[in-house]
Amino acid sequence: MSETSGYSYQEPEVIKESIFIGSEALKKAPKITGVPTGIEGLDDLFFTVKEEKGKLKQVPLGGIPKYSVFNITGVSDTGKTLMVEQFAVEQAQKGDKVAFITVETPANFVIASVKYRALAMGYNFSNFEDNIILIDAASFTRLRENIPDLLSTLAYSIKEYNVKFTIIDSVTGLFENKEMMARSIVRRIFNFLKKWYQTSLLVSQKRSGHEELSAEAAGGYAVGHIVDGTMVLAKELITSQYAARMYKAQPGDLVRLFRIDGCRMSGHDTKTHFMEISETGIVKIKEPIGGKG
Ligand SMILES: Nc1ncnc2c1ncn2[C@@H]1O[C@H](COP(=O)(O)OP(=O)(O)OP(=O)(O)O)[C@@H](O)[C@H]1O
Ligand SMILES: [Mg+2]
Repeated sequence: MSETSGYSYQEPEVIKESIFIGSEALKKAPKITGVPTGIEGLDDLFFTVKEEKGKLKQVPLGGIPKYSVFNITGVSDTGKTLMVEQFAVEQAQKGDKVAFITVETPANFVIASVKYRALAMGYNFSNFEDNIILIDAASFTRLRENIPDLLSTLAYSIKEYNVKFTIIDSVTGLFENKEMMARSIVRRIFNFLKKWYQTSLLVSQKRSGHEELSAEAAGGYAVGHIVDGTMVLAKELITSQYAARMYKAQPGDLVRLFRIDGCRMSGHDTKTHFMEISETGIVKIKEPIGGKG
């Protein structure tokens, strides 16, 4: 029969490469270890389960799970940038390459801030400054507005410099004026980071002051369901005696809070913790607000 209809029928095909039996898939499964973050108090909040004499035991992972993609969210001035810079410095200091995609602040300003972070952490930045690879999407509009260009540039950097860690500050800046696209943009980035085995921190901005500690408020919404896990940063101005008692603070104090809002790749602490930003801009995670017990 001749093909005159213009519709070419394709015989369904079995894609055998897409089928894996359990043991084969397991051979390719990455071993999940902890990546120390350089953020005091954070590494102990992730767990894994180990078998010991036939019993399952919870053991600390000692960092965020390797190959995880995390969303760091919070309103303005909650310490998101400080936190990801601190993480970048810690990885670079150990000798690993970090791609830092800056979307809001030009690269030369970011590197000055990262250098200061290193100094505050007690490191000599000149020993490892080239381990930070900046991709300036703040100055290059095309990278900010065209995700394929951004990801091609990142792929090039990963290959060229053997990058293991990727930071984006912030993904929110990549869907400015096109919030409807947020999910698909974040999904593309997420799939890309997974394919390249990048342990990643994506900063996302929350506009709303409501539901301070939930990841669902605007901004965090698109990202939370797609990535492996979310860390929520918040600040609260103490205005009542009730809040003062609850947070063991004085009226007028600013209290900083931190919570891990889910992590698919490992067990994790679920409590709300106090967070501190030192005078030199070092982020520390402190005790849970309800006490240790
Ligand atoms: N070098 C520093 N030394 C001490 N404190 C600092 C330093 N830099 C920032 N801070 C404090 O930490 C707070 C959080 O800063 P950071 O830039 O990390 O906020 P952010 O969550 O990234 O905000 P945004 O969403 O606006 O980018 C600042 O408001 C400031 O009080
Ligand atoms: Mg910031």
